Amino acid sequence: MTIRYDNRVAIVTGAGAGLGRQHALLLASRGAKVVVNDPGGSVDGTGGANAVADTVVAEIRAAGGEAVANYGSVSDEKAAQGIIDTAMNTWGRLDILVNNAGILRDKSFSKMENEDFRVVVDVHLMGTVYCTKAAWPHMRAARYGRIVVTTSGSGTLGNFGQANYGAAKMGVNGLINVLRHEGASYNIKLNAISPSARTRMTEDLIPEEVAVYMKPELVSPAVGWMCSEQCDVSGEIISANAGSFSVVKYFQTEGVQFDPGEPVTLEMFAEAWPKINDWTGAGPMGRSRGRLEARLRAMGRIK
Ligand SMILES: NC(=O)c1ccc[n+]([C@@H]2O[C@H](COP(=O)([O-])OP(=O)(O)OC[C@H]3O[C@@H](n4cnc5c(N)ncnc54)[C@H](O)[C@@H]3O)[C@@H](O)[C@H]2O)c1
Repeated sequence: MTIRYDNRVAIVTGAGAGLGRQHALLLASRGAKVVVNDPGGSVDGTGGANAVADTVVAEIRAAGGEAVANYGSVSDEKAAQGIIDTAMNTWGRLDILVNNAGILRDKSFSKMENEDFRVVVDVHLMGTVYCTKAAWPHMRAARYGRIVVTTSGSGTLGNFGQANYGAAKMGVNGLINVLRHEGASYNIKLNAISPSARTRMTEDLIPEEVAVYMKPELVSPAVGWMCSEQCDVSGEIISANAGSFSVVKYFQTEGVQFDPGEPVTLEMFAEAWPKINDWTGAGPMGRSRGRLEARLRAMGRIK
């Protein structure tokens, strides 16, 4: 099986550097026409330079691929619409959207200004919303779409000093959990990448002997697959790091079911806590506990 994107049009946001650049190069090398979006700028989202996107476009063209630059910020609603318009105006279609753009404003929560929170949420969560919303009608009309969002272990696990970033990164997971249902009948599949790689964002955080293996191009195959016709899942989170790939899921314990026809006291809860928190028999969320109706029926509360 060879995976290709011939006749497909893709957008990669924040494609001028790091992970986004590798995603764009991979998609273009397999036949996709790619909008390389990037306003340039520093890790904290300040400044800007068209050369950042232009360089990747030149790289793709030099390798025989097709690409066009867009310099808009995903956190600006109109500019985000402009990114999608760039694809539609240039090639008349949009098949793939990789929401990758990101910034950092790390600080402990006590020192973090609300503005630092807002700016990070605006790029990661609202930027993903704006681009996805603008792409949605085109994908629905074509009855085809592949959308990738970029989450992070800083959200799913938590990381000191990244309250803004962690919250924003969990937000995109909630977004695809809902949109996978709304997109299902239109063959729009949405999945998340949870990457770990050496880029300017993580430059100082990873010891050198490990960092050499944490190449951004080792994350892109998971993104490429999620962008392909072959991708047959929606709403999944794929973790990718130094050639390792795995799926992240929310699990739920079997827990306890009290009789809902009777009061539940605080003491009953406290006493049951070890059982509520017992991971024996836990399973993917929803499934381990079965349906409420079945539990109530077993107790004779409903027929
Ligand atoms: N590197 C990692 O280990 C890691 C881990 C978890 C998540 N991520 C996520 O992966 C994505 C890529 O990060 P990276 O490590 O390649 O960082 P990076 O800084 O190298 O690349 C991010 C790119 O996004 C662009 N960008 C910033 N704000 C933008 C905006 N408003 N609109 C459009 N583009 C914008 C930047 O100019 C930059 O080129 C981010 O969403 C990041 O949060 C990275």
